[in-house]
Amino acid sequence: MFVSNAWYIIAEPQELENEAIVARTVLGKRLAIYRGRDGAIVAMEDRCPHRFAPLSLGKITDRGIQCAYHGAEFAANGQCVAVPAQKNPPDATVDTFPAVEKHGYVWGWLGDPELSGDESSIPDGFWVSGDPAWIGGYGHMESIKVDYRLINDNLFDITHAEFVHPESFGGEEVQFYRDAKRGTGFRDRGMTYEVGDNHIVFRTHAAALGQEGGPLWRSLLAQSRGLDDWPEPIDFRMEVYWWAPVYTSFHITVRPIDEPDADPVEIYNLHAAIPETEASSHYFYRSVRNYGDASMNAPFIEAAQAIFEQDKPVLEGQQEVLGARDLLDEDPISFRGDRLQLEGRRILNELIAAEAKDG
Ligand code: FES
Ligand SMILES: [Fe+2]
Repeated sequence: MFVSNAWYIIAEPQELENEAIVARTVLGKRLAIYRGRDGAIVAMEDRCPHRFAPLSLGKITDRGIQCAYHGAEFAANGQCVAVPAQKNPPDATVDTFPAVEKHGYVWGWLGDPELSGDESSIPDGFWVSGDPAWIGGYGHMESIKVDYRLINDNLFDITHAEFVHPESFGGEEVQFYRDAKRGTGFRDRGMTYEVGDNHIVFRTHAAALGQEGGPLWRSLLAQSRGLDDWPEPIDFRMEVYWWAPVYTSFHITVRPIDEPDADPVEIYNLHAAIPETEASSHYFYRSVRNYGDASMNAPFIEAAQAIFEQDKPVLEGQQEVLGARDLLDEDPISFRGDRLQLEGRRILNELIAAEAKDG
């Protein structure tokens, strides 16, 4: 169950360097994604119409892409333009899909091509990942055998951090999420949230978060000041945006409690749970920050990897238990902390139902 008419991240630009052709299934469609010699990005069905060899096994040529099997060539619009030793190529085309580059990512549109001019489903909040002023925008992509909706649920559900990620951000601050109230702004030791048509935002705050908080936030402040440790309490704020169907941004702001006017340490963690099939996803992730230089990236990459390794078995285990069934059809029990993920599910279901109705 996918929202078809939306822009989805299909590749990191660096994956397309040196005439590489990326084979990737998105929304159940096998794609060959590459940058042509004219610089334009192409996303086409990964299937040669001759004998159905994957075009991603081929190579880039001046005319477009050449199939690895019998050498037929296809232009960026999918048209067959050459067959070796044959004067006239057959009138055949490969399906192509709109693709754009924005915010440091390659986005593809697999829905109704007539609607692809609307770029509003590319989340504005991802601008930060394409801005060189923000440091550490390395790409991370993980294949995960999980329905993208379970990943969305996981991102709304910060309460799991206390049990799955206790050594990083699973401190007492995650308990604030169970006390969600509609509203805007930051509430000390509580959470406010707003629900829009296609997005949800929630904010949490601790005016003085000490050792009872997860160590990750204090370690960011220590790192930004070249210290090993920050034992004092911190002012901690987190603002999280989710944009339907699959994009989440965590903006974390930390400053010493006795320096209210100090520039805060800020990070954005950006998550995109791109559906591969009904039961598997490509998980694109980036973390960028407002301090330091590239030499500090390694610990962030290691920490992100460790956190993924903690979530992955739980999520893949859920998927194994569910099989082809949808979680909400199985009548799960829900807790107080599940309110926002249920709102997110409702928005997705409404978008999917609206597409089905429009046919
Ligand atoms: S399968 Fe592609 S040219 Fe034959
Ligand atoms: Fe997690």
